[in-house]
Amino acid sequence: MSIASNANTAKLKEQFDAGLETRADFTIDQPTERSGAVDHAVWRQLYARQTALLEGRVCDEFLEGVERIGMPADRVPSFDEINAKLTPATGWRIVAVPGLVPDQVFFEHLANRRFPVTWWMRRPDQLDYLQEPDCFHDLFGHVPLLINPVFADYMHAYGRAALAANDAGALPLLARLYWYTVEFGLIRDDASPNGVKIYGAGIVSSKGETIYSQQSASPNRLCFDLERVMRTRYRIDTFQKSYFVIDDFEQLFGVAQTDFAALLKRLVAEPAFMAGDVLDSDRIITRGSQDGWQADGDI
Ligand SMILES: [Fe+2]
Repeated sequence: MSIASNANTAKLKEQFDAGLETRADFTIDQPTERSGAVDHAVWRQLYARQTALLEGRVCDEFLEGVERIGMPADRVPSFDEINAKLTPATGWRIVAVPGLVPDQVFFEHLANRRFPVTWWMRRPDQLDYLQEPDCFHDLFGHVPLLINPVFADYMHAYGRAALAANDAGALPLLARLYWYTVEFGLIRDDASPNGVKIYGAGIVSSKGETIYSQQSASPNRLCFDLERVMRTRYRIDTFQKSYFVIDDFEQLFGVAQTDFAALLKRLVAEPAFMAGDVLDSDRIITRGSQDGWQADGDI
């Protein structure tokens, strides 16, 4: 699940039109009867491809999460089965949704340790890319780290802060933090290419960005800094120009202790940086070669 830049997507409408009974909080019962042989085959293919690719590239905490949750390799998981492992561990549970949900609804779920998971799978011709989050992205990408207590607390703190922020101007700042940690975060690992491993869900669920984020010479890899991240625009249509690298998950725990209300109030008046900017104050792990960067299109 991502923060909705446009919740009223065609796919969402299609699902509503399909007659699924949607509650006021946008959740539905997982319509398991609608997952057919093609959906299970797509899951199987993506799961096999990503787990092979992630070996040595993703952080250990992610792999531990996959193991502890007992994520099935061969079929679209039952959300109830996932919750049977997840909820006793960290209090989080996943809830089925028809697609992207409005930001406030999303924050309300996170603030209550509920993670919305899109029920439908991408089509076989969309293995490499689709713009909206599907079940594979939401479940395989996000849920393994929700069984990690430190990351689980970070997500909860984020949801509470986002829900409490009632200044509309704060929304882009909150979206950037989510984007550069939960979706596209890298973590320090000196023994790995470019000194980084992967943890963000947008990367771990993508074949192309798994390789690019760790191995390409194009992007900047910069040490994580909360204020810097909240002021940095990002890409939704191409690989990232910059990634922000945490030292470890304890650093996110520190972020979770932040007085977000005060910080947002201060930062909302500050200008934003472009996605590819490198500042004098940045601690640089790799400075990007900028190969293949598009000049415009930062969100
Ligand atoms: Fe996501």
